[in-house]
This record gives sequence, C-alpha cells and structure tokens, in this order.
Amino acid sequence: MARALVDMAGASILSAVNEPAVALAERLLATLPDADSRRVWFGHSGSDANDTAARVVTAATGRPRVVAFEGAYHGGLAGSSAISGHPSLDHGAKAPGLIQLPYPDPREGAEAGGDVLEILDAHLARHGREVAALFVEPILSDGGLIVPPAGFLHGLAARCRAHGILLVCDEVKVGLARTGHLHAFEAEEIVPDIICLGKGLGGGLPLSAVIGPVAVMDHTTAFSLMTTAGNPACASAGLAVLDTIARERLAPRAAVAGERFTAGLRALGHPLVRDVRGRGLAIGVELAERGAGAKACVRALELGAVFYFVGRDVLELTPALTISDAEIDEGVALIGRALDDVAAGRVPDSAVAAYAAW
Ligand SMILES: Cc1ncc(COP(=O)(O)O)c(C=O)c1O
Repeated sequence: MARALVDMAGASILSAVNEPAVALAERLLATLPDADSRRVWFGHSGSDANDTAARVVTAATGRPRVVAFEGAYHGGLAGSSAISGHPSLDHGAKAPGLIQLPYPDPREGAEAGGDVLEILDAHLARHGREVAALFVEPILSDGGLIVPPAGFLHGLAARCRAHGILLVCDEVKVGLARTGHLHAFEAEEIVPDIICLGKGLGGGLPLSAVIGPVAVMDHTTAFSLMTTAGNPACASAGLAVLDTIARERLAPRAAVAGERFTAGLRALGHPLVRDVRGRGLAIGVELAERGAGAKACVRALELGAVFYFVGRDVLELTPALTISDAEIDEGVALIGRALDDVAAGRVPDSAVAAYAAW
C-alpha cells in the first residue's frame, strides 16, 4: 500500500495496467471455478458496480428486460436504482420492462420460496427470451435482512440456466466472508454468472468490482469508464483485505461469531424482539413495535454503538468481521439496554424526530 501511494497513486487502469490491480483481479478470479472465462471490472462503490452490471447485461445480450426484487437496494445511481425495489429509491425511473418479484420471507403471511419461483415461472413463460439478467441479493439486506428459504437461490439459478438468463448476485453487503462463506451464494452451492462486490472490498477505501463472463464484460471498449477506477492504492487495499480474510480465517470466524451474537440476542428474551435471524455476521433483529427500530438505534447511539435499522423495524447488525467475543457480548448487553429503554417509554418521539430515516 505504501509503495502504491508513493509510486503511482494517481495512475488508473485506463491506459496502462498496474501491478496491484492485476494482482487483485487475479485473486478475485481465483475465488471462482471458471476463472478463465471471466473478466473483472473495477469501480468505486457498490452503486457503480451494480450500475455497470445493470447496463451491460441488456447491452451485451440485446435482451431488454431485467428481473429483480421488491425491497432490493442495488445503489443510488441511475442504472442501479432503476433495478432497485427499495422504497428509498422509488423516486427515479425504473428500468423499462423491469420485472419485480417479492423476496421470499419465511415469516407468516409472506410469499414462501416456492410461491415466488411460481411467480417467476409465470413471467418467464411470457417473457423468458426478453430477460437479460436476474439480480438478487443472497440475503435481502436493506429490505429487512431476510435470509431466503433453503433451495431458493438454487431455484433461481436453475430457471436462469433454462432461459439463458444471466444470474447476478449483489454481494456488496453480505459478501466477502460475512456470512461464513467467502461469497454468500456459496451457501447454496450455486455459481452466478456475474458477481458485484463493494463495501468491505476496499477496507474503507473506494473500491468495487464486477466479475462476469468475457462476452458480457468485454462488450465494448470504455462501456463504463471511470478514470480513477483500479488505481493502485485502492487495489492494494483490496489485496490486503483478501489477505486478511484468508490469514485470519475470517469466514469461519464470522460463522462462529454470528452464532454467539444471535444466541446472545435470543437469550435476552426481550418482549420487543419478534425475531432474530441471519447468517454469520449478517444479523437482523426484528422488533415487534412500529417505530421501535429508529428509537432503538438512537438510544444505542447514546449508549455508544452504531446500529442501523432496515425494512420496517429490523435492526441490522453487520459488524467488522474482526469483532471479538467480548465486543459481541458488550453489543448484546447494549442492545438489551437500548430495548429496555424503548419498551419503558424512555425514548420519546422527539428523540428520533431530528433524524431522517428510511
Ligand atoms: C446490497 C447492496 N448493494 C449495493 C449497495 C450500494 O453500495 P454503495 O453504497 O457502496 O454505493 C448497497 C449499499 O448499502 C447494498 O447494501
């Protein structure tokens, strides 16, 4: 990293490659079974990765439609928000012919995995040949931290294969070891055609990647050209992140740490908690009262920890993968205190009024 900053921090991969970017591309490809038939694109954020993927799939295949999910957050740029179903991105235009499916939610009253696959089958029976790609978050994150039922991703992959549709996994939030696997899709032993990575990939520096088939990624020159993408400083950070994940065995550690976290949260037995769910260190705590999510986050912030809420009232816990057991226990206790205060009415509406929330 120091050498990258001193030597050529301003260099991009527009006109000449640099060693860290090539090394990072090779390292990412090596995480997949069919590396030779793939290419890597680098960007700066989850939004630009999904934006690039969303635009290139229709351009490269000549098929005009995309399938994606209600509640999905793929990014805040025109192309990525056009395929998103998250309410915060309702303002922009949606992709022409976008097919939006409900995300299967194991909770009562919601569509189960089989129901959603049936809905997809009905769409594909009419429009299968028009669909370029299906975008899915292996765990719906900002839409409510929902883990799909077993077999669902497999079902999607089978339908994509049957109709010649590219399967795109948005691994921006839950990828790179968070779920206990390097890639979250590994939970169902599927291999998507296209993978979008971001967030933790740069360890805090702006770095994202799209990995996909040669024919799609090499569609045209300069399809999604960004001057500083693939710069050596961010690429070095990406290499350091992948090294750390491997050296510190962070994927299996995330699985164990996640079990401790969820067990601790369940053991609170808190009346405000309706459900604790997740995979590894992607954890959702669904609260039983409307508005409790915002209040719990504000109270937790006062007590010294940052949490988010997603969906309606689901606390999202996506801590650093290096979190210690002691920090997990402290986090559980702190959430318990925050929830006690919310339940006892000690967090007034006025305490959350100053914060904009989705
Ligand atoms: C699944 C998913 N995809 C894409 C994005 C967009 O990433 P970024 O905020 O880095 O642009 C996010 C951000 O929360 C995300 O959770």
